[in-house]
Amino acid sequence: MRKLLIGGNWKMTKGLKETSEFVSRIKDKKISTEGVDVFISPPFTSIAEAIVGFKGTGISVGAQNLFWEDEGAYTGEISAVFLKELGVEWVIIGHSERRTYFGETNAGVKKKVEKALQKQLKVVICVGETEEEREDGRAKEIVEKQIEEGLLGIEYDADTLAVAYEPVWAIGTGKTPHPEDAEEMHSIIRQKLGDKGEEIRIMYGGSVKVHNIKDFITQEDIDGALIGGAALDADGFVEMINIAKEIRCC
Ligand code: 13P
Repeated sequence: MRKLLIGGNWKMTKGLKETSEFVSRIKDKKISTEGVDVFISPPFTSIAEAIVGFKGTGISVGAQNLFWEDEGAYTGEISAVFLKELGVEWVIIGHSERRTYFGETNAGVKKKVEKALQKQLKVVICVGETEEEREDGRAKEIVEKQIEEGLLGIEYDADTLAVAYEPVWAIGTGKTPHPEDAEEMHSIIRQKLGDKGEEIRIMYGGSVKVHNIKDFITQEDIDGALIGGAALDADGFVEMINIAKEIRCC
């Protein structure tokens, strides 16, 4: 059985002070993550604080991006080497906001995934169609292309890589697909992954909240959630971890 994976993507929120407040709240609650894998990806400048703070809580720390070179004249970029040195475990690659606002392409995503894996970082590769692509009946084609061009041919396994299906129109909008429609896309992604498909965890992301997470993660091919806005609140985040534990644990 695939272990559920719950990730928080803080995007460009929570500097040092807010990260430290979140950590304190988590520690007060004395949480247990037994049976579930959990990570939070803060912005780069809060990562060190989060790594020290989450020690012993069962929550790992991720990054939201990296660059595919180890070092050099790439102003403003951060390498996998630096992240690994800090103690980062996960990295989110190819998030739709990076594709939309920073021009990331499937080819660039692939280079980043390769580098992250080479440096022993665990990867969450994000895929998902826009509203327009869905309305045009192209959702499956787009997502399959993102998997094909961003991932196929790379060596990975179930411990080192997960996929997040995040329909762009569901991110930050409060709109979600029907869980059965999300399940259908997860199953398509699994088939596209080929031999490895059965082992790889595929998370759902897009307006996941305390009140709807169960509807998604009880679907057969949905192995967790990548949570944005609702992961900013420590109490809610812990509640979602607990829901996951009840569903598929131990
Ligand atoms: P929301 O949960 O805020 O919709 O964001 C989802 C997301 O982009 C996670 O990566």
